[in-house]
Amino acid sequence: MMRLRLLLVSLVSVPLFAQSGSAPTLAAKPPMGWNSWNWFAGKVTDKDIRQAADLIVSSGMKDAGYNYVNIDDTWEGQRDANGVLHTNEKFPDMKALADYVHSKGLKLGIYSSPGPKTCAGFEGSYQHEQQDADLYASWGIDYLKYDLCGFRKIMDQEAPNDKAKQNQMMRDAYEKMHQAIVKTGRPMVYSLCQYGWDSVWQWGPEVGANLWRTTGDINPTFERMAFIGRAQAGLSKYAAPGHWNDPDMLEVGNGKLSLDENRVHMGMWAMLASPLLAGNNLSQLTPEVTAVLTNREVIAIDQDPLGKQAERIYVEGPIEIWARPLADGSRALAIFNFGEDDNYMRGISLHLKEAGADNGWHAHDVWTDKDLGPIMDNTNFTLKRHASVLLRLSR
Ligand code: GLA
Repeated sequence: MMRLRLLLVSLVSVPLFAQSGSAPTLAAKPPMGWNSWNWFAGKVTDKDIRQAADLIVSSGMKDAGYNYVNIDDTWEGQRDANGVLHTNEKFPDMKALADYVHSKGLKLGIYSSPGPKTCAGFEGSYQHEQQDADLYASWGIDYLKYDLCGFRKIMDQEAPNDKAKQNQMMRDAYEKMHQAIVKTGRPMVYSLCQYGWDSVWQWGPEVGANLWRTTGDINPTFERMAFIGRAQAGLSKYAAPGHWNDPDMLEVGNGKLSLDENRVHMGMWAMLASPLLAGNNLSQLTPEVTAVLTNREVIAIDQDPLGKQAERIYVEGPIEIWARPLADGSRALAIFNFGEDDNYMRGISLHLKEAGADNGWHAHDVWTDKDLGPIMDNTNFTLKRHASVLLRLSR
């Protein structure tokens, strides 16, 4: 079997966009919460959001760290004669909804587009940026996902065939809403959604982004989830406290993902220091899905205060090893079998040195919560199809 060794990206280099001096106050750790899109899409209502807030508390997700309840597209109504945007009939009173969510000790997120229309064809913020930001602040909104969509038409109209100008327009549009939010005086997590265009990770922090989508949309299949997760290789140096790569919302509990597949998804996102925004139907939470979403040790890896995203240190066909350093000097190491066959691990070294660890370090198996004792580079794991091993290694 052909072995392909990947270029090692240093696991200890200084983050490119680390904020010097004071620590960031917003999104110092990857945001955690729930978003309406993956399950409800265009059907989401005020009642669904209230119920989601209730269930985040009663399921124990709030205690595990999930605190943003984010309304995605399709809440928007029409603008009145003064240009003030109103909600549609599914959301009769956004201020009352925000008050309700806040009363649960949670925060409320909302969605818009720099274009005239959102992806689902609802009213966007084009030429109403300050008005909309002020409106969100007056409602008590804590988080904005700003989705390029309708702005692409403006880019095509104003700069046909001029990629450089279009890219500049895109940055300006994101900066404009950033400034509008700042002017409201209300802190709001700022989430860019433009599918990773123009290497957004290189300029996201400059336009005030706390997170930016790196790819197109996820869906509840193992193939799409794994494709997006693996596509994050090489991006670790762009993540740091205050600004994160966003491989899209979690599909844990959606579709037909098996326990192994849900663990690959959750474990991979935790390794990636990804925002953890559940996207499932919380009224159908099973004990198995709740356990995956609320696993304290997995969440601790995701939320580690060092904020260093994992990098891929080894790949051989469908087997990949990813590693990240953690604030207490330990290392998280994950082995994934993205393939269709079992038992791929025979004879594959764990590449402990590349992970910043060494032979003899103590290994804790995170998903099974078992101490494995001292680990060696040639310690053997058997990984079933679509399965993973997630280890915390300490000296
Ligand atoms: C785009 C985004 C999704 C979702 C929908 C809503 O596709 O990438 O995450 O917000 O729009 O219309």
